[in-house]
Amino acid sequence: MKNSIVVSAPGKLMLFGEHSVVYRKPCIVTAVEQRMRVRVIRTVGSEIELIAPEVGLKNFKTKITTPIKKLPKSAKFVFAAIQNFYKKYKISSGLKIETHSDFSSKFGFGSSSAVTVCVVKALGEIFDVQVTNKELFDIAYKAVLAVQGVGSGFDIASAIWGGTLYFVGGGKVIRPINTKGLSLVIGYTGIKADTATLVRNVAELYKTERAQIGNIFSSITGIVEDAKKALLKSDFQKLGTLANINQGFLDALGVNTRELSNLIFVARKAGAYGAKLSGAGGGDCMIAFAPVNERNKIRTAIQKNGGKDLPVKTGAEGVRIEK
Ligand code: MEV
Repeated sequence: MKNSIVVSAPGKLMLFGEHSVVYRKPCIVTAVEQRMRVRVIRTVGSEIELIAPEVGLKNFKTKITTPIKKLPKSAKFVFAAIQNFYKKYKISSGLKIETHSDFSSKFGFGSSSAVTVCVVKALGEIFDVQVTNKELFDIAYKAVLAVQGVGSGFDIASAIWGGTLYFVGGGKVIRPINTKGLSLVIGYTGIKADTATLVRNVAELYKTERAQIGNIFSSITGIVEDAKKALLKSDFQKLGTLANINQGFLDALGVNTRELSNLIFVARKAGAYGAKLSGAGGGDCMIAFAPVNERNKIRTAIQKNGGKDLPVKTGAEGVRIEK
């Protein structure tokens, strides 16, 4: 048994299939090289100390048995994951957890899921429990559902397996896709979106417009299948076209914003093959499939139009032990 360990996991970007993946449909997600690092130290007693300055937790300390609803928002995922782990493996111990992120939690890169994955991985190492990736997924996904009530688990899978994944909602299928030469430009709108609220808004629309929204989810599923083939062939022109079509459907779901649209249009005009929002919508980031020789022009266009260009490397390694 170890007393202390550092684990890291990558952030993620949704390429195709957001929202419909919540309804057990497929999506494509890629892990980004910006990582979340978490140090977990075993302590005596039964208190969990959480230091996560990026999300305003300077020195939060409470008993592991504290009900999730009484915890600050940014501590909920970690506590839910530890509670699940302790229950499953009949463990009880105090812990000190420190997080450090390469990226802001505002970008929508999946900081909560990356931290949750890191903590569960660290607990396996500290308490000498063999935890397979699938078990890690199940424990972390259960924590997300306990806290958020909704979510497909794609972000958890991305943090665990890394690379680029074909993922079916709930983790029914998790399969790596070999991508070569994927060139993206990312624009951040400066607006923080609330995923759970957006997912609930789409659910409301699905209730009242069952047939139309059902058709949209089926169309997005077709786009994801085509995008998988295009990625395997490195057909970026095709991926751009599919991104534009996917964006039209996301607009129809009501998750687009003026700021996202603005960055998407300027990216297309500056030479992108195509562009779309990435993730829940309502703010956060857009992605542009970009010819390599047009990248700088697209970046400049994003910056000049109120966006922040975020350099990313895609297909990053999944969760790993640092020391
Ligand atoms: C959010 O990044 C992506 C959604 O599909 C939600 C989810 O899959 O959990 C909107």
